[in-house]
Amino acid sequence: MNALLSVEGVDVHHGDLQALHGLDLTLDEGETLAVIGANGAGKTTLLRTIAGSLRATRGEVRLDGDPIGSTPAHVRVARGIALTPEGRRIFPSLTVEENLLVGGYRGRKGPWDLRSVYELFPLVHGRRTRAGAHLSGGEQQATAIGRALMANPRLLLLDEVSLGLAPVVVKEIYAALPQVVARGTTVLVVEQDLNQALGVADRVQCLLEGRTVLEGPAATISREDVTAAYFGLQE
Ligand SMILES: Nc1ncnc2c1ncn2[C@@H]1O[C@H](COP(=O)(O)OP(=O)(O)O)[C@@H](O)[C@H]1O
Ligand SMILES: [Mg+2]
Repeated sequence: MNALLSVEGVDVHHGDLQALHGLDLTLDEGETLAVIGANGAGKTTLLRTIAGSLRATRGEVRLDGDPIGSTPAHVRVARGIALTPEGRRIFPSLTVEENLLVGGYRGRKGPWDLRSVYELFPLVHGRRTRAGAHLSGGEQQATAIGRALMANPRLLLLDEVSLGLAPVVVKEIYAALPQVVARGTTVLVVEQDLNQALGVADRVQCLLEGRTVLEGPAATISREDVTAAYFGLQE
């Protein structure tokens, strides 16, 4: 059986700078993977390469075994890949509800619609007529995740959910993730916050300077190993 997602020997460059070096990653349907790494490790580059806003210079990205490396981003959304980008990127002049509807525009049919997103994130429901510019960081993050869910993704990519949010808000947002997983969505979460990532993930993959330095089941990898990999202190 094919993996839902496979990233095979991928190099990605930003101009002269090579951000990913022969990176491999696989995700089976229903799995939750945490990709962990320090600032600049290549996490966002990886997610953007999977979502289609960056192209690999070598290697391939596959969905269900089909090469999608040259498939445009909006077609990848239609095939079931949705990204909640770093920094949320909420449309500031649109209301919360309009932001959510934009997310559904290119998407698939499935369990996620305005009603189920509002049930998942009651704090977003309470703000549905408010402009994106006037939301708190937590409200923006919940709206950004809701917007991605509106596409009914098979694979949800979450980039730095907790960045810049108060711990209580981070907890509230992470508390919603099991309901997303329970509906069959495969989740790839990128975090600098080890606690959150290890709490939700089945498997962990640590990046350092664009390469995988540690990977394994979340239950068997020790915090010390992850911390050492994070800072490049192995061997
Ligand atoms: N748009 C860009 N232009 C030039 N360099 C970039 C760009 N985006 C990222 N980089 C560089 O690529 C490397 C990986 O960055 P990134 O993927 O954002 O890492 P992370 O998300 O793990 O912090 C870093 O050295 C970063 O400076
Ligand atoms: Mg990043």
